Amino acid sequence: MGLAENELCYDLVQEWLKNNPKASICSAEGVYEFRDIAIFQDYHGLPEFRNAVANFMGRVRGNKVTFDPDRIVMSGGATGAHETIAFCLADPGDAFLVPTPYYPGFDRDLRWRTGVQLVPVVCDSSNDFKITRQALEAAYEKAQEDNIRIKGLLITNPSNPLGTFLDRDTLRSLVSFINEKNIHLICDEIYAATVFAGQPDFISISEIIEADNAIECNRDLIHVVYSLSKDMGFPGFRVGIIYSYNDAVVSCARKMSSFGLVSSQTQHLIVSMLSDDEFVDKFIAESAKRLATRYKLFTRGLGQVGIGCLKSNAGLFLWMDLHELLKKQTFEAEMELWRVIINEVKLNVSPGSSFHCPNPGWFRVCFANMDDQTMEVALSRIRTFMLKNKEPTRPKKTLCWKNSLRLSFSSSRRIDDFMMSPGMTPHSPLAQSPLVRART
Ligand SMILES: Cc1ncc(COP(=O)(O)O)c(C=O)c1O
Repeated sequence: MGLAENELCYDLVQEWLKNNPKASICSAEGVYEFRDIAIFQDYHGLPEFRNAVANFMGRVRGNKVTFDPDRIVMSGGATGAHETIAFCLADPGDAFLVPTPYYPGFDRDLRWRTGVQLVPVVCDSSNDFKITRQALEAAYEKAQEDNIRIKGLLITNPSNPLGTFLDRDTLRSLVSFINEKNIHLICDEIYAATVFAGQPDFISISEIIEADNAIECNRDLIHVVYSLSKDMGFPGFRVGIIYSYNDAVVSCARKMSSFGLVSSQTQHLIVSMLSDDEFVDKFIAESAKRLATRYKLFTRGLGQVGIGCLKSNAGLFLWMDLHELLKKQTFEAEMELWRVIINEVKLNVSPGSSFHCPNPGWFRVCFANMDDQTMEVALSRIRTFMLKNKEPTRPKKTLCWKNSLRLSFSSSRRIDDFMMSPGMTPHSPLAQSPLVRART
């Protein structure tokens, strides 16, 4: 439950792979393409790959905008895309504004090797974590007072960890803000196809700058980061995309992409899969349906024991409010509760402090990387915990569960989001770069 992974539609992908053996150069049907694919190494990527990805990005956004394949730049996941963008736009010491709470991986991706800083824009629970002009101005002014040069604003839409997406007015106001300050806007839309409910639909930044006449904007300032890690559930494929409206950034990022290309074998497979419009449409619709069902079951289960969540309609997680369970409204108390949840309840949820959340007591709960049975186990553990917690006469020790149920997860997995494991502290130690300076 600490991993934002999407495994709910793997059956559809497996079915497609069985029906399309030619898509792989490792099958008897597809091996004839082996030579061409194995030798391919152009950093522009296979032209069919860029076409297929551009088409997919449009479909995911309801075909309200089109994407130019010549602006698609490859990277090693969104992780690589963020770093490349940071290298392109900023010098060491420069900074990007980032609204809170935000994906902790940004502290690594944008900072470690670039020397760039992140300045939080404090958005809190008082207005459901909305990004206001006031909060943006306050962060910008504070940075100026501290002599920090702000080069851009980084948003995640839909948000990790909130599971919400931005409305048109907020997007317009963000565009006006960055335009006035003449700084860049990087939009991480990695969760675009995880939207499972809501009217109006998800609005991409591309729609705002291309189809919204109400807004004037210097397009050179706009950049989209995307990947197939969440929408398709392929984080292992490392298919990341930088889509920039700025020619200089496209050109620079493309040259730098040599450091993190997508393997030609993966490109080849993705071309076939994403060019199958019928499959893609079915996948997107079915994935949204399954995510909605999960969300409903989970929030209902939590609601039954009095746990509230931020109302959301996208993403692979819930933003759970446990502030009433804290002994004090502090981050120390949040850590204490988190350790109980990890060690006694035996659920690996992530504390809000690791997302730089300004209010203690919030936890992110991922719900799309387990089967129904495991979900039931998770819910029953939470239920029992809450019920025991409500019995004030019991000595506290009875909360130490000796539960025979075990959730298992492979230890070799990448710890997504830097998520915490017992023993770590919330302001993730991994936020510091592991690079060491050579002494000689
Ligand atoms: C908002 C956000 N951006 C980027 C990433 C990294 O994605 P990728 O696996 O494509 O590198 C994640 C992963 O959790 C994420 O949540």
